[in-house]
Formats: sequence, structure tokens, C-alpha cells
Amino acid sequence: MRGVTLSVLLFIALFASENNSTLSGEKLFKSYCWGCHHPTAEAFGPSFATIASKRSEAEIMAMIATPAKTSKQLGYKRNSMPSFSDLSIDEIKTLAQYVLQFKDAKEN
Ligand code: HEC
Repeated sequence: MRGVTLSVLLFIALFASENNSTLSGEKLFKSYCWGCHHPTAEAFGPSFATIASKRSEAEIMAMIATPAKTSKQLGYKRNSMPSFSDLSIDEIKTLAQYVLQFKDAKEN
């Protein structure tokens, strides 16, 4: 009896953690942003450390949702960032929070 309860709990725990990881900021970052951004080094786009030091969560979310428009508002003359129409609002928020984690990270 006890063994059964334990394996049921284990199954739930494994299932729940796997579910979380599909939404994790790091995973989303690796699938969508890594080609152009590095957390702490300038790449094709600015580093997340630089971005986090000067932007709010709302600004970062706006940039991910509508880069062409937001990039102008942030002072860029040209926009080279594609829009990600398959991302949900939740995923965009998770990504913005992921970017903001690097606020006090040292630049490479
Ligand atoms: C194809 C390359 C590319 C990809 C992919 C990309 N970006 Fe960008 N990103 C850029 C470039 C280049 C800029 C500089 C501004 C511009 O071009 O509009 C930028 C700018 C930004 C900015 C605003 C910078 C500032 O000054 O505050 C944010 C925030 C940002 N990117 C987040 C992301 C996130 C999060 C992802 C993944 C969902 C992502 N980017 C994917 C190229 C990219």
C-alpha cells in the first residue's frame, strides 16, 4: 500500500516538474532568443544584463510582442528582431522575467 502511494506521488512530482520546464524562461530563451542574444555578452542584439539594467518588465514584454514598433519607441533607428507570434502572453512574461534576472549580472 505504502509503495503504491509513494510511486503515485513520485509520478505526480515528475509530471509536474516536466510541465514546468516547458514554460521555463531558460528553455524559451534557448528556443527563441539564443541565436541573437547572450545573457551577459553583447551578440547580434544587446545582452540581457544591459537590457535588464535599463528596461521595465512592460518594455521588455512589448519588445518581444511587437518588436518593429517597440524598437522605435526604445530609440533604435532600425529593427532586426523578428516577432514571435506563436508565443503566449504567459510565455512572453516568463521571458521578460528571465531577462530581468540578469539585472546585476556582470557583463562578459
Ligand atoms: C534575429 C535576431 C534576434 C532574435 C531571434 C531576438 N532578438 Fe531581441 N533584439 C535583436 C536586435 C538586433 C535588437 C536591437 C534592436 C532592434 O534591432 O530592434 C534586439 C533588441 C531586443 C530588446 C530591446 C533592447 C533594449 O534596448 O532594451 C529586447 C528586450 C529583446 N531584444 C529581447 C529578445 C528576446 C526575449 C528574444 C527571444 C524571444 C529575442 N530578443 C530574440 C535581435 C534579436
